[in-house]
Amino acid sequence: MDFKFTEEQEMIQQAARDFAERELLVDVIERDEKAEFPTVQMKKLAELGFLGMMTDTKYDGGGMDTVSYVLAMEEISKIDASASVVMSVCNSLVNWGLETFGSEAQKEKYLKPLARGEKIGAFLLSEPEAGSDATSQRTTAEDKGDYYLLNGTKNWITNANSASTYLVIAQTYPDKKHKGINAFIVEKESPGITLGPHENKMGMRSSDTHSVMFNDVKVPKENRIGEDGFGFTFAMKTLDGGRIGIASQALGIASGAFERALKYSRERKAFGTEIINHQSVAFKLSDMAVKIENARNLCLKAAWLKDQHLPYGTASAMAKQYCADIAMEVTTEAVQIHGGYGYVKEYHVERLMREAKLTQIYEGTSEVQKIIISRSLLK
Ligand code: CAA
Repeated sequence: MDFKFTEEQEMIQQAARDFAERELLVDVIERDEKAEFPTVQMKKLAELGFLGMMTDTKYDGGGMDTVSYVLAMEEISKIDASASVVMSVCNSLVNWGLETFGSEAQKEKYLKPLARGEKIGAFLLSEPEAGSDATSQRTTAEDKGDYYLLNGTKNWITNANSASTYLVIAQTYPDKKHKGINAFIVEKESPGITLGPHENKMGMRSSDTHSVMFNDVKVPKENRIGEDGFGFTFAMKTLDGGRIGIASQALGIASGAFERALKYSRERKAFGTEIINHQSVAFKLSDMAVKIENARNLCLKAAWLKDQHLPYGTASAMAKQYCADIAMEVTTEAVQIHGGYGYVKEYHVERLMREAKLTQIYEGTSEVQKIIISRSLLK
């Protein structure tokens, strides 16, 4: 077992850290307050190759491994999870899904501009009545011969407005239940697509979340991904990798809050000494450090399994569940260590705490991860 990163992995980690500190930190509080998408910052992140970092160089991506992706996601998420979620959805849902299951023509037309970071993608699975229960898709994709006709509503869609390329999951044969579901590449500008208002969220407020309505949207037959009826398997397999992204996002939120709490407790004095010298604070920091170390190891293990082409679905669910849950715990303790300062925006930890909550909800709640893990134990 080798716990040492390669020189390239360390360089990517450093580049992501530098970018986050130089470009994201300065306005992150203001963007969060105004719920403003980081358009300029995303363009720069794309130019550095982070939006297509895991896609093969053959398709204009960075050709980097999943371990590097975890390291980069942690660094960006320490400072701005609204930015890192764009990176996560693009890399591990949209690009990976297209690269792994798309046809050569689909990759040429849609994957390449995404991998170059010229376009942003979105993954449209969730619906008003199909969140955790993803098989209950109500959006329909009627087979009309040389095209499909899409009708329905998708909810809580990350990148809904900023994306040009949607991957949409919809039901073609309701009688067949999940075996009748298909996945499609849909261009956002297609006639019949409308967006709901920007969701006024508790955290990750500057990420671009909307509902998306489809009203008789024509999708060419060649835009179906994989065989007829492959859509649910497509979504599940893609989410296996997506959860490594959100796990490392949660890890970054936790480690960002921890670093701030550690710094604060070394500087802040109370009862005649820096508060880190009080055992009540030192023990909190110690517990936080252990949780973060465990979380990081789970993320890296899942990433390593994926890079080795070994099964990683259970490992990614474990990483997602644990990292999200400890992100909530660690950020809550970071606020506590900061006392009154922790409850105001300038110290960042209240924002990190709000961001942590979402990691327990999206890409499968913590409870969904437990379903996946417990079923793997029963097998
Ligand atoms: N890989 C391949 N196939 C899989 C699979 C996987 N990981 N997981 C399930 N399947 C297959 C099963 O084998 C089964 O196939 P068969 O019928 O042929 O045996 C089929 O899919 C149905 O599986 P289940 O019976 O396990 O389905 P279920 O209804 O019990 O649900 C679930 C399982 C894990 C709860 C699933 O519904 C799920 O993952 N729900 C959460 C959905 C989710 O994560 N949504 C997030 C949206 S994306 C997002 O949030 C992005 C963002 O904005 C950041």
